[in-house]
Amino acid sequence: AHLHVLGNLVGLFLQIIALSVCFSGFLSETAPSLRGPLGQHVLSSLRVIRNKCNIKKACPSNTFAFKIVSGAANVIGPFMCFDNVTVMSNIKNNIGRGLNIALVNGEFFKRLLVFLHKGTLVLMAAYDDPATKLNDEARNLIAELGSSYASKLGFRDNWIFIGGKGIKDKSPFEQYLKNDKQTNKYDGWPEVLEMEGCVPKKLD
Ligand SMILES: *[C@@H]1O[C@H](CO)[C@@H](O)[C@H](O)[C@H]1NC(C)=O
Repeated sequence: AHLHVLGNLVGLFLQIIALSVCFSGFLSETAPSLRGPLGQHVLSSLRVIRNKCNIKKACPSNTFAFKIVSGAANVIGPFMCFDNVTVMSNIKNNIGRGLNIALVNGEFFKRLLVFLHKGTLVLMAAYDDPATKLNDEARNLIAELGSSYASKLGFRDNWIFIGGKGIKDKSPFEQYLKNDKQTNKYDGWPEVLEMEGCVPKKLD
């Protein structure tokens, strides 16, 4: 499958990865080279059978395993694993940089979302602040990918999301935490969000 790590498209804040999931050869083609941050502490004398992306439950074969962790404040960048491939992490150092020119006015992001193929999965994780550079049009496009919170995203809110071009209902793969002085875990930012599970290979 084609795995496009597009890096940072909306300012320095919103990380976007588009995965094309129309190819059945995906599993055999990919050669993961990095372990996730949770993969380190395993007794070496034991043969531990780990699930893809180190998630707790194995995924059925008609789904892709995933794990998404949002950024922590403005310090630690987000982590994303999809089908046992770490697509984004601090270690990979592919966060917080990217196609900056295209981002200034959100044009590139907008065009990207408009031209995504039906069936393309989109993974997003906030880092620091997901909202400031999102205009209404971009929010609508994200909502069309199945997001329930795209319209509500505010300054330094935390948010993780998997959606897809062409899905009919709201995505069940979304978490949102408001930046709120009363409940923030960090000074100025809410708690880290984390979600893992299995996303259907065929979207509908
Ligand atoms: C996932 O990737 C790791 C290496 O990063 C590998 O050791 C493991 O066997 C893979 N798991 C599956 C189920 O393919």
